[in-house]
Amino acid sequence: MFVASAGPLGEGTGGAVRYYSLARYALLDALRLFGVGRGHRVLLPSFLCREVLAPITMLGATPCWYEIEPGLTPVGSPDMWPEAAVVLAINYFGFAQDMAPFVAYSHRTGAKIIEDNAHGYLSRDAQGRWLGTRAPLGLFSLRKTIRIPDGAALSVNEALLVKGLPEQLPFDENGLHQAQVLKTRMRHIPLIGSRLLRIATFTARGIRKYKTGSAAPLSDPLLETQIGVAPNPWIGLLSAVAQLDNGSEIVRRREAYSRCALEGQRCGVAPVFTILPDHCVPYGYPFRGDDSGCASMRRVAGRMGFDLVAWPNLPNVFERPFPAYYRNVFMVNFLW
Ligand SMILES: Cc1ncc(COP(=O)(O)O)c(C=O)c1O
Repeated sequence: MFVASAGPLGEGTGGAVRYYSLARYALLDALRLFGVGRGHRVLLPSFLCREVLAPITMLGATPCWYEIEPGLTPVGSPDMWPEAAVVLAINYFGFAQDMAPFVAYSHRTGAKIIEDNAHGYLSRDAQGRWLGTRAPLGLFSLRKTIRIPDGAALSVNEALLVKGLPEQLPFDENGLHQAQVLKTRMRHIPLIGSRLLRIATFTARGIRKYKTGSAAPLSDPLLETQIGVAPNPWIGLLSAVAQLDNGSEIVRRREAYSRCALEGQRCGVAPVFTILPDHCVPYGYPFRGDDSGCASMRRVAGRMGFDLVAWPNLPNVFERPFPAYYRNVFMVNFLW
């Protein structure tokens, strides 16, 4: 049974939350709270977006890596992972990561755990615990769940860490990305807004493909070193979070997932996760597929009013070639 009004933010042991424009800033403050700086190592899964590296680089720290299985759990035993000051556990696509290997690693090395729940606002694990509250610090990228220009949060789940937290930054327009402002304005044009935005996006992708050979924006190495916009959260963030009907949103996402799973079988693509666990609230429908499966799923996504994206935008710095199964993951994005 889901409770319609309850949400994960503020429910950690410490109960403190700070809001930002992007989850990268939440990670920056999380690393600072753990005293990470020059010379420290931060252990990350090698299957992640290159953007996540920026806060680590900005603090002068060094990333080190653990690898990920096709089912998006860590490869092998945490006894083999390199030593680091902090380790990041990611709930990919809103599916709960098993925290046990991270706790074991933390016991062995003294590393602090950050739960990266950028994808999983409203999602819970098999025990009913909110994702993002299962480690001392949890990250949320709210803009990935709610259609808003920006929005992210850091959940401080350990009372002792609260006293080191900086003041909440003002909620204003400083952190806004101009492209997001334009998209939001377009979407709010009565009656035709959503359609207009879809046509504009389709046209922009076509022009980009013609000019660069890729419909998606070319991956920018600067994403690994800079964040690019200010950290201040958007002025409308808290009311957007309050207005979200959590119960309906949970049902909507789970229903969209079930429908995509059926369509996925028809299109011949393979789901990344074989089941949708009871309390999971998915970011989207992640799958692996070839060009033709992807083209079919893109049509399915379009009919459902959704977008299809490739994920992730892998970092450049990993020493070894990535396994092939890192490079064929796509997601029907349930953002509404
Ligand atoms: C797993 C994960 N963590 C963190 C982030 C950063 O989120 P944001 O774009 O809000 O900074 C992303 C997305 O880039 C992500 O996919």
